[in-house]
Amino acid sequence: MGATPGFAAWQRLDHWLKAHEPFWSSVPFNEPEPAWAKNHPELYQWLLALDDASLSQFQPAPLALAESLTSWLPDLAAGVELIQMDDLSGESAALPESAASGMPGRKRLQAGALTGSLKPLDRPLVDWCCGAGHLAATLHQASEQSVTGLDWDAALVHKGLAWMQQQGHGVALKQQDVLDPLLVLPQAHHWVALHACGGLHRRLLQQGIAQQAPRLSFSPCCYSLFAETPDWQPLSRQAAQTQLQRPLPWSLLRLAVQQTATAAARQTRQRRRLRAWRLGYFSLYPARFALASAPASLASEDFNAFVAWADAQSARQTPATHRSQAEAQGWQQLARIERLELLRHCFRRPLEIWLVRDYQLALEEAGYITRLGCFCDPQLTPRNLLLDAIKSPSIPCHD
Ligand SMILES: C[S@@+](CC[C@H](N)C(=O)[O-])C[C@H]1O[C@@H](n2cnc3c(N)ncnc32)[C@H](O)[C@@H]1O
Repeated sequence: MGATPGFAAWQRLDHWLKAHEPFWSSVPFNEPEPAWAKNHPELYQWLLALDDASLSQFQPAPLALAESLTSWLPDLAAGVELIQMDDLSGESAALPESAASGMPGRKRLQAGALTGSLKPLDRPLVDWCCGAGHLAATLHQASEQSVTGLDWDAALVHKGLAWMQQQGHGVALKQQDVLDPLLVLPQAHHWVALHACGGLHRRLLQQGIAQQAPRLSFSPCCYSLFAETPDWQPLSRQAAQTQLQRPLPWSLLRLAVQQTATAAARQTRQRRRLRAWRLGYFSLYPARFALASAPASLASEDFNAFVAWADAQSARQTPATHRSQAEAQGWQQLARIERLELLRHCFRRPLEIWLVRDYQLALEEAGYITRLGCFCDPQLTPRNLLLDAIKSPSIPCHD
């Protein structure tokens, strides 16, 4: 059978990612001298020579760098076109603050934006991985349809039910493992998910297709979490034609969600300090070893406290000498890494869209008409993609 409507866009992205594979498949934090540096020494030196002001200017939108790099990577700028997405946002359906007490402000607005972009809502709804049910309550208010929220976390469901009662929202929440292979949902429902992580939203898609759900709408996030396999596997027949090197480990694809558009400046500072200290700590040893992620609270202490924490984690006793040189070295290494990451981060959004376009193709192959685009501004959440699919009675399944 032939290609479905979304195939051409997926294929353009696949070719572009293939053409630039060396630049996103090496991780600067692990490989301070990436393999591509040998073939592109001038590009490497140019990046390392960027001053702090340029670094901060490019960090929020790394593809803006593409124009400066045309002499080395003439096709990089084409990525800007490939990540242009339709604007699916509608009028916000956010609950008024008076009906949303206890709901974090950003969550209230995200749920309102997603709901607004899905209207009209004309059938009963399921909120997949509903947490405390904030989206469920928003969907209910905007549609007056019956809404059932599913989440496996009993404490969250309990908290959500108490909140529904207190606020007068008539929504049912149920404790349910959505990965349960025996799960069957009532027919004729519209299944919706806001930020259900990797394997959880893929389950919604696959289960929804299997049950021929009339409408499936989700905003995906954290693609590598709850992964069914260690490596990426296409969900669609068409994306199985990818030119990218496989196996493609999920650990590499974590790049797709390494965006901190909503991180407060304080969190960014804390994260940088912990990264520099980690590098400084490792500089005291001939080789790196496994070390857990440091708790954010450690960032308000000093390098010695970090060393004590890392020693306890790794059953080592780092000598008290050379600490200040090690800390300085950590900061120097971080400066190099952040500059090399600028180039790698050009591929974050393209990789995310490449992943989601595979989902779109799978839905099209199953006879759905799809819309893929953004439901809100990235400042509200960088995970702002929405895939909305309606089962068409007239389009046969392409299996
Ligand atoms: C990132 S949160 C999103 C929650 C909510 N949709 C929101 O936007 O606030 C992911 C949710 O998935 C739930 N979850 C994780 N694994 C699950 C499973 N196997 N079955 C059902 N829910 C699950 C978690 O308890 C959590 O509430």
